[in-house]
Amino acid sequence: MKTVTLSTLQAHKHAGETFSCLTAYDASFAHAASHSGIDVLLVGDSLGMVLQGHNSTLPVTIDDICYHTRCTARGKGHSLLMVDLPFMSNATTERLLEDAAALMRAGAELVKVEGESWMADGIRELTRRGVPVCAHLGLTPQTVYQIGGYKVQGRGAAQAEQIINDAKVLVEAGASVILLECVPASLGKAVTDALDVPVIGIGAGPDTDGQILVMHDVLGVTHGHTPRFVKNFMVDAESIQAAFQHYHEAVKTRAFPAPEHCF
Ligand code: KIV
Ligand code: NA
Repeated sequence: MKTVTLSTLQAHKHAGETFSCLTAYDASFAHAASHSGIDVLLVGDSLGMVLQGHNSTLPVTIDDICYHTRCTARGKGHSLLMVDLPFMSNATTERLLEDAAALMRAGAELVKVEGESWMADGIRELTRRGVPVCAHLGLTPQTVYQIGGYKVQGRGAAQAEQIINDAKVLVEAGASVILLECVPASLGKAVTDALDVPVIGIGAGPDTDGQILVMHDVLGVTHGHTPRFVKNFMVDAESIQAAFQHYHEAVKTRAFPAPEHCF
């Protein structure tokens, strides 16, 4: 399979084709996902929940993420490797640059950071030093204690307008990709149409350029509350690799997400 780069994602957007993204935290699952055709692998700070058993992503450290990035990078194959900057990496510009450098040295090819338009300065500093950035908007799990739960964001015209504007400001600052989590499908479409850069969605409707899910949700090994936007692809699959293939094909053909997965 051809190596996926930012240009590949950009080309998919311009051709009106979707691309598939999936979290991965180690070499074996990264290898299986990559060989199933997945375009982008994310070492997400969701590892704090699905691997470490915490009920939020806040306890995850830069060392935790670096360890899992090194593991995942060895199995990533052709897929593009995106990695999360953990909680408080954006505390100061100095810390942001140091943490991003640590991720890039560990094997990241694109770093993801949560934050609204105030992240513009940090994103500018990163991109001018050669670190491509994905800006995560909508539901940002690192702010869960402020939001008061994992709730849909961008409901109502004013909130939706705010998110569209934040996305534009962050792209202007240099963000190469936008990730939108848990927003109404209509807003997912509006942000995707408003931007020249690829938009990845999770619980953001069927119209974003890419779709992402947490691997454990795709495999049905999540316990506790399952969000509306997830689908267990293991149900109709005879192997883990087949489940990843079914997910990839469902994204490519826009069979996933279906209306029941959207807000
Ligand atoms: O940490 C993560 O897995 C994420 C995705 C849910 C987008 O940020
Ligand atoms: Na994350």
